[in-house]
Amino acid sequence: MALVKISGLERHYQMASETVRALDGVDLEINEGERIILLGPSGSGKTTLLNCLSALDSPTSGEYQFSGNKVPKNESEAMTTFRRENIGYVFQFFNLLQDLTVLENLLLIQELAGSRDEDRARNLLALVGLEGEVDRFPAEISGGQQQRVAIARSLAKRPRLLLGDELTGNLDSWTSSVVMEVLVKACDSEGITCVFVTHDESLVQYATRVIRIDSGKIISDESGGANVPSSTPKHIVG
Ligand SMILES: Nc1ncnc2c1ncn2[C@@H]1O[C@H](COP(=O)(O)OP(=O)(O)OP(=O)(O)O)[C@@H](O)[C@H]1O
Ligand SMILES: [Mg+2]
Repeated sequence: MALVKISGLERHYQMASETVRALDGVDLEINEGERIILLGPSGSGKTTLLNCLSALDSPTSGEYQFSGNKVPKNESEAMTTFRRENIGYVFQFFNLLQDLTVLENLLLIQELAGSRDEDRARNLLALVGLEGEVDRFPAEISGGQQQRVAIARSLAKRPRLLLGDELTGNLDSWTSSVVMEVLVKACDSEGITCVFVTHDESLVQYATRVIRIDSGKIISDESGGANVPSSTPKHIVG
């Protein structure tokens, strides 16, 4: 069964003199374990699509099923619950809490999701190569290391779908590739399905599938440079 099944999704913004069709009839199925790169020009609807996928935003019309269940819309409490249970997010600006250590940043997210698990937090930090930095504060590590903390944090509550919007947009190309390799390894070992928005064509090598969007419509959908992992995902903790 598809993890994500979207059909006829539209998101319109009613402005004073016009209707902006940010999403204009999107059909999309995403299977478990896929790693999708979403490309498109500025204003094409990428962030709007991520926001609908994560139920941060409600579509104007169309259907969205997640794991066979209808995703709530226009109901902020149910949408928050859906997000908390299923969705991880990595941002361009790492959004780490500066007064908490690297480890505490992960523990806080687990506590908010109702499941503190320090062993898992430490294992994830080791997986992204930061076992030596767990007790440092964000200001005491580099930008690439901060983004690796943000990746470990996004996985700490075991999301089923991980979303990223320009997650390497703030990093130089060498650091971007380090971060992407860490991310791919972590997602493969956890069996997590991903959709990453980017302007950077070179990230296509990390994707199992590449989708291009323009004017709110999918204009191409093809295989990426990476293979879907064939081994059974092994969960690193528990
Ligand atoms: N709150 C809003 N009100 C009105 N129009 C909006 C709103 N948010 C987005 N839009 C419009 O919807 C369209 C899609 O925006 P979106 O943010 O999804 O683009 P994007 O592909 O993420 O662009 P970028 O690459 O610049 O981040 C744009 O025309 C944008 O101006
Ligand atoms: Mg955007």
